Amino acid sequence: MYGFNVKYLKTSMLLLAALVGLVLAGTYLPRVVFFLVLCGAFLLTMTIAISRNAFTQTRDEDPQVATMPLRREKKFSVARPRRRRDPEELSPEATVSLAEERRMADIEDVFTALDRQLVGLVPVKKKVEEIASLLLVDRVRQRFGLQAPRPNLHMCFTGDPGTGKTTVALQMADLLRRLGYLEKGHLVHAMRDDLVGEFIGHTAPKTKRVLERAMGGVLFIDEAYYLFRPGDSKDYGQECIDILLQVMENDRDKLVVILAGYRDRMDVFFESNPGMSSRIAHHLDFAPYTLNELLAIGNAMLERSSYYLAPEAELAFRDYLTIRMEQPRFANARSVRNELERSRLRHAHRLAADLEASRSKDDLMRIEPADILASPLFATSALAAVDPRT
Ligand SMILES: Nc1ncnc2c1ncn2[C@@H]1O[C@H](COP(=O)(O)OP(=O)(O)OP(=O)(O)O)[C@@H](O)[C@H]1O
Ligand SMILES: [Mg+2]
Repeated sequence: MYGFNVKYLKTSMLLLAALVGLVLAGTYLPRVVFFLVLCGAFLLTMTIAISRNAFTQTRDEDPQVATMPLRREKKFSVARPRRRRDPEELSPEATVSLAEERRMADIEDVFTALDRQLVGLVPVKKKVEEIASLLLVDRVRQRFGLQAPRPNLHMCFTGDPGTGKTTVALQMADLLRRLGYLEKGHLVHAMRDDLVGEFIGHTAPKTKRVLERAMGGVLFIDEAYYLFRPGDSKDYGQECIDILLQVMENDRDKLVVILAGYRDRMDVFFESNPGMSSRIAHHLDFAPYTLNELLAIGNAMLERSSYYLAPEAELAFRDYLTIRMEQPRFANARSVRNELERSRLRHAHRLAADLEASRSKDDLMRIEPADILASPLFATSALAAVDPRT
């Protein structure tokens, strides 16, 4: 608060010197010469101010920026062992309960939300639990004053579309914030176009902007393998990857990067970018859902919005999914959600077709087989192209 800033002292000294100079010149120089000196000093000051301003503005556009540290970056700041944050260090004889620590971190809500939002996904939820346990133990170790490097938390989520990657990433960001590993715990979603420019000098500022938005939270890079285009000499993806690698290392106490995409493509990406692979600490694989899981997901989605499938409608929906799973652009739970939204539309249309009929609460909640079977999917053969709205 009472800090002393050398910059302000220098400015004051300069102003004082200019004032003294002006007074002396005004006293001893003839009027005309004094006027010329005054004009010269004014022009010189303006030129310096304008050039400085122009230099500051163009500096960000310099392609060299890729090699320049980010504004918030502190080189070599992360690998240092941390001291515990708790001012009251526990004595070596003290004991702690991890259950109590878990309550103090208030992370139960995250697991409840994961269970409520996501049907199945047992291996993924188990992995999230494991990461939480690692961080919980790390927190307790810090309370005992045990020095420990911050664990690497960059992750890779692999799986087909609509298997819950983004949903889990959001909960992961919240979990890391509650455990004190991220300051804000927000999630910034980015794809190749958000990070890589099309012209020389565009990529570094673009990547830098996204990184600055993500600081304190999670940067979720969807279909990360598109960052890398082997054999394309005009591609700037590698420049973006280099910046990411640098920030993932130097700023890993402020930012967690999650790379997401199809598993096989991600494997190829890591083979070509061993630096990236070595920075990823946790791999979470999201398996495609089985038919029964998709049905359970559909029922859970309907229940959340106070609808349900009549028993015959459930059979019709099972048939729908059996065909849809074999179609192109099938997107697991997202396809389920989209089809159920269309069924609700048909349900409402069916009820509205007879405006005078009296409807019970149950009528307003129950999806009938007709609401499912009216899907164009049943009208076309299984091999025909389906509605692209997955
Ligand atoms: N296991 C599940 N239970 C219930 N709903 C689910 C489940 N998995 C996904 N969903 C729902 O499906 C939709 C898509 O999920 P999400 O966006 O997390 O998938 P994604 O893997 O990120 O997809 P993409 O790769 O296409 O981005 C969301 O509405 C989500 O709530
Ligand atoms: Mg997603």
